[in-house]
Amino acid sequence: MDKVGGVILAAGRGERMGAPVNKAFLPLGDRPLLLHSIITFEAAAVVDAYIVVAPPEEMAFCRALLAPYGLQKLVAVVPGGLSRQASAAAGAQALSEEFGLVAVHDAARPLLSVELLEGVVKRAAAAGCPDLRVGHPGAAVVVAVPVKDTVKMVDSSGIVRETPVRDGLWIAQTPQVFQRDLLLRAYAEAERDGFSGTDDASLVERLGVPVEVYRGSYDNFKVTTPEDLRIAQAILGRRAGRGLVHDRPTPTGWWGAHNVRYAHNQDGAAPGSLAPVSPLRVGIGYDVHHFDSGRPLFLGGVKIPGSPGLAGHSDADAALHALMDACLGAAGLRDIGHHFPPGDPRWKDAPSLALLADVRSILAAAGYMVSQVDLMIAAETPRLAPYIDAMQQRIGAVLGILPGNVGIKATTTEGLGFVGRKEGIAAWAVATVSG
Ligand code: CTP
Ligand code: MG
Repeated sequence: MDKVGGVILAAGRGERMGAPVNKAFLPLGDRPLLLHSIITFEAAAVVDAYIVVAPPEEMAFCRALLAPYGLQKLVAVVPGGLSRQASAAAGAQALSEEFGLVAVHDAARPLLSVELLEGVVKRAAAAGCPDLRVGHPGAAVVVAVPVKDTVKMVDSSGIVRETPVRDGLWIAQTPQVFQRDLLLRAYAEAERDGFSGTDDASLVERLGVPVEVYRGSYDNFKVTTPEDLRIAQAILGRRAGRGLVHDRPTPTGWWGAHNVRYAHNQDGAAPGSLAPVSPLRVGIGYDVHHFDSGRPLFLGGVKIPGSPGLAGHSDADAALHALMDACLGAAGLRDIGHHFPPGDPRWKDAPSLALLADVRSILAAAGYMVSQVDLMIAAETPRLAPYIDAMQQRIGAVLGILPGNVGIKATTTEGLGFVGRKEGIAAWAVATVSG
């Protein structure tokens, strides 16, 4: 069989989702929505490699989001275009000639199963490759499901013009699998003719090449609006309750031998399964360190010049310590003292940002990801306002969330208490995690 390359499209804006970030990066279960499709492509034996297409302005963020997961088949994250079609063309072009077949998939369909992906690719390989002649049936195979409702053609004044016979009407999904040369030609000719289609198959159809449908699954729907996200969450929970769960992603590799495991517990739930876990969990953290004029000051992962530092075994960054406890607490994973014992020489003068990265890994290994944090720092001195932006950036980068999801406020205590007497700094944090 020819080599098979995937193109996973995540370069949209997710406008209908109404979220502040691209919907592909929103949490779904224990991982970003985009990662669900990525896991499926990693797990499908028929797929050799794949490209992820991301919004040009979110390339760094997307790469940082994927970096901890040790993805084996990811060739590159490439920038998309203004339309889905432009993004798909960019992704397909980024796959080298060695890939005879290309499977284009919307990241917005997170519930694609490994079986369906393998099925449609094998069908395309059997039908069209390796000796593809244009016009040969099965040169292109797209996943689709029969329409269940009656469809109306409605004009701009809201009047029904036609009711097409339902038999024979199908809803196109992805993956859509094509012989690579054919797909690239379809994109090129569409661009030349100024034709835009809402899927890849329509570009191939206009070349006169027969496109075959491969029966998909109604679960493989496109997550478009907030209620779709809730439906997807419910389906994931149902799958987990049946004992069919994806293993937890870990920073060093995915799943051991299998992506999917079947559990046969008496209660029907897999160990650590998604089912009984609330989709949103909250944790709280608090920390205090007293000043030590012999040390540099680190707060929120930023070195602040001209101020006495804080006493402690690590760099004594009270803000990050409170934050780590909040993250661990939200996941029910004890506290920093438990994971980083104070006497341990490994943590002597350690940068707390590195410890925060470890906390993220500990959470990921247990199947949780941080979605948002908020910090309150009480310090009579120094003035922290000039450093807040840098703190948001650094914490966001380490936790894999946008700086806008990192809240940081600073206050004095008007001369009252140990903070007011300039004896030390206190910090409180809350974190929300999903899993
Ligand atoms: N897509 C893309 N590049 C674009 C537009 C869309 O890669 N310029 C991707 C989306 O990321 C998504 C898939 O194409 O995975 C299907 O598109 P759609 O569901 O419309 O997603 P969005 O365009 O992100 O959402 P919206 O139309 O609501 O803005
Ligand atoms: Mg769109």
